[in-house]
Amino acid sequence: MCGIVGYIGHRQAQDVLINGLSKLEYRGYDSAGIAIYDSGSIHLQKSVGRLATLEERVKGDLVLVGSQGIGHTRWATHGRPSDDNAHPHTDEAGRFVVVHNGIIENYLELREELIAKGHVFQSETDTEVVVHLIEELYQGDLFKTVVQVLKRIHGAFALAIMAQDEPGKLIAVRKQSPLIIGLGEGENFIASDIPAILEYTRKTYIMDDGELAVITADGVECFTFEGNPTVKEVFNVTWDAAAAEKGGYEHFMLKEIYEQPKAIRDTLTGRISEDGQRVILKELDWTPEQAGSIDRIHIVACGTSWHAGLVGKTVIEKLTRIPVDVEIASEYRYRDPIVTENTLVVVISQSGETLDTLTALRESKQRGLRVLAITNVLGSSVNREADNTIITMAGPEIAVASTKAYTTQVIALYLFACYMAQLRGSVGAPQVPEILTALKGLPELAEKVLQTAPAIEGFARRYADKEDAFFIGRGLDYAVSLEGSLKLKEISYIHAEAYAAGELKHGTLALITEGVPVIALVTQDDLYEKTVSNIVEVKARDAYVLALTWQGDTNIRKTADEVITIPRTLPFLAPVLAVIPLQLLAYYASVARGNDVDKPRNLAKSVTVE
Ligand code: F6R
Repeated sequence: MCGIVGYIGHRQAQDVLINGLSKLEYRGYDSAGIAIYDSGSIHLQKSVGRLATLEERVKGDLVLVGSQGIGHTRWATHGRPSDDNAHPHTDEAGRFVVVHNGIIENYLELREELIAKGHVFQSETDTEVVVHLIEELYQGDLFKTVVQVLKRIHGAFALAIMAQDEPGKLIAVRKQSPLIIGLGEGENFIASDIPAILEYTRKTYIMDDGELAVITADGVECFTFEGNPTVKEVFNVTWDAAAAEKGGYEHFMLKEIYEQPKAIRDTLTGRISEDGQRVILKELDWTPEQAGSIDRIHIVACGTSWHAGLVGKTVIEKLTRIPVDVEIASEYRYRDPIVTENTLVVVISQSGETLDTLTALRESKQRGLRVLAITNVLGSSVNREADNTIITMAGPEIAVASTKAYTTQVIALYLFACYMAQLRGSVGAPQVPEILTALKGLPELAEKVLQTAPAIEGFARRYADKEDAFFIGRGLDYAVSLEGSLKLKEISYIHAEAYAAGELKHGTLALITEGVPVIALVTQDDLYEKTVSNIVEVKARDAYVLALTWQGDTNIRKTADEVITIPRTLPFLAPVLAVIPLQLLAYYASVARGNDVDKPRNLAKSVTVE
């Protein structure tokens, strides 16, 4: 995720751009920049850090004057946060300028091709290839050049582009990443999202996938990528500014739950070979010897990230047969763990700043161990200090309760397990192509799971006044139960516990009384009958059972009171789909209880204390 804005009209562009970016900071905030056209040239200011740093810089002497410009707030994906990697990007002569949200998948080959032609790159970003391609192909018509460029770049992208030789014109492009155009009187706007322009206009065009627009102060024309005109309808925004920032969702958490199909897709992008047979993790590039020497793995994390680690343990052990321990970071530090010189430590942290996890990482490094990080924040402490990092592509997560970060961490762990199995020639290697095919299908299946929201909302409303709930499951279902239970606790404040289904009878069954909600996960085919027996046990104590199972499982209805289904995939991948209804359950229970969903009491998004 990143936020982009553009302005052309009669106001000072700098003010409009900075103001618009301030409404898009939720999309990324590791660097920001603006480019403004004035009197025959383009002037640029950009800076690592939050928008406030840029704002400070463009006050006073460095103010950029002009009524046409583009701007960007960044969430780093390719290239760590730095002044050089901040957008906008220009060619060497500064004649063209581009801001981008998305991923240019084939940037490496384009970069090599352009370097061979003499282009000098100033950043590590994927975006920079776009501006050099424009420079390479430009023959006096920016629109025609962009149409040519679009034939060369693959991936997801929203772009805003400006050329020194063609003042009075902005070009906007949309493929997969969001982009809207704000329609004013003698002025027009570009933005990744509606809040950025609401102060100026409520009339918009929502750009379609595969569309580009030529924008002047007096008009907007839209075209297909082939250059054929399209007809647009004006969309009048009726939401207030606060609702618009959440994309029309009532809370960031709900928005982030719904962003999961895209987050999963983005995390997979570029990491599976075109023939679907192999995992590509360029960020690791280990030799078979390096991968082969690892004799045990310690996964270290906190909270939800620790739960992702529990899924990772099963997956890595099954595919590679390397023994994996999953450790709570705050415990790991103090318990003098037994390690070998070939132990790999995998730290998982959405924020990359959790002190417990970071300290465990530092101590592992001091012991001379190799550390692999899985984090959502490029440039975070965990990313900088680990030997290797797999970045999850969830985009900024604003709600305190983690949702899309968890699913993308799990995806990263599947990729890592498959990568290791292939590199080591492990027992699981032959299964990898089948797993990769199934992984690619997950975004679409996750969309389908989101359609169960109304049924879950109904259950959540009916049970929101309960003070206790239990989650049960076996194997991978147990790992997901732990996450479902944490989610419910932290935002609804209902006391919830997760149990390995077979363990209930060793004590906790005493707490099951009439009407106590039990959420039973039954997605692991080889454990199905065992878990059903455990459901029967709680039913015999008059619990109210909501079962989470595969579509087409009619048998479970004989035992459970209510059933939520997920579409079929490999049972091995079920956690990615099964967690979504549990996130929705926690969300709707929290709403029904009138809680502050995005900022639950006593909690913070990033825990930088011990
Ligand atoms: C729960 C939640 C927390 C975090 C934990 C670790 O919804 O978000 O349990 O998972 O505080 O945070 P990171 O992953 O940033 O290290």
